[in-house]
Amino acid sequence: MTIESAFDQRAAAYSDDWHVRYAERLVELAGPSAGTRILDAATGTGLAATAAARAAGPTGHVLGVDISEGMLARARRSAAAPGIELVKADATALPHLPDDSFDLVLCSAGLLYMPVGPALREWRRLLKPGGLVGFSTMREGYPVAARLFRSHAARHGLALTDPATPLGTPSKCRQALEDAGYSPAGTVTETIRFSRSDLEHAWTAHTQGAHHDALTALSPEQTETFRTEYTGALTSLLDTDEDHVLDAEVLYAFGRA
Ligand SMILES: C[S@@+](CC[C@H](N)C(=O)[O-])C[C@H]1O[C@@H](n2cnc3c(N)ncnc32)[C@H](O)[C@@H]1O
Repeated sequence: MTIESAFDQRAAAYSDDWHVRYAERLVELAGPSAGTRILDAATGTGLAATAAARAAGPTGHVLGVDISEGMLARARRSAAAPGIELVKADATALPHLPDDSFDLVLCSAGLLYMPVGPALREWRRLLKPGGLVGFSTMREGYPVAARLFRSHAARHGLALTDPATPLGTPSKCRQALEDAGYSPAGTVTETIRFSRSDLEHAWTAHTQGAHHDALTALSPEQTETFRTEYTGALTSLLDTDEDHVLDAEVLYAFGRA
């Protein structure tokens, strides 16, 4: 399964409350002003694009790009506002867009699905000199529900890596920005709180998200056993240590072109 089809499948259950807060906080920290031209890379259902368009106002412009038609279809319904344009495209290669097109490039919860260096370099090309890039990512090891998923997967012989590892500390974010030619402009570390209802989708999110291919190695019976074990363990961890499961450390990283 490709990332594109994984998100096509996941689109219907997407836009949990925490995703909204996560995307809106990235926009708030980036602080676009009226008239700003913004690229929302991997816009998904358009959460950051919507918040960015509110800040940029009628004289601004937001282009949201995503490879998943399913996610974009939801964005077209919920993020249809004047000043937002939504296009199906690979955010790491946008050759039809000229250099220096944007004041701000945002990527909320999307960079982990892409080759980081090529993506950041393409966005630097698209940014005006002095323009800002901002992306969000989980701190490595978070969310706890994903860590639990990987430890249960290991019991079934699946060695899954943490998708947050490549960018999962402030110094890794800083290094990635420097490697792509930006001047790092700060990384903010915060905690985002999931709700219990967000975690009702945990199995789907993990099996259709970053680890979308992993389960093909298991038989339907093994998959069902894994699902039962994982969801049971998650429920009992929630009952014994709710804060530990629901609080996730996240990073918002910024760089200047
Ligand atoms: C976890 S969602 C985040 C969506 C949105 N930014 C948000 O904050 O809710 C990740 C998104 O990245 C998109 N994506 C992954 N790789 C991409 C790529 N190379 N180009 C464009 N979009 C991509 C997926 O289709 C999906 O919509």
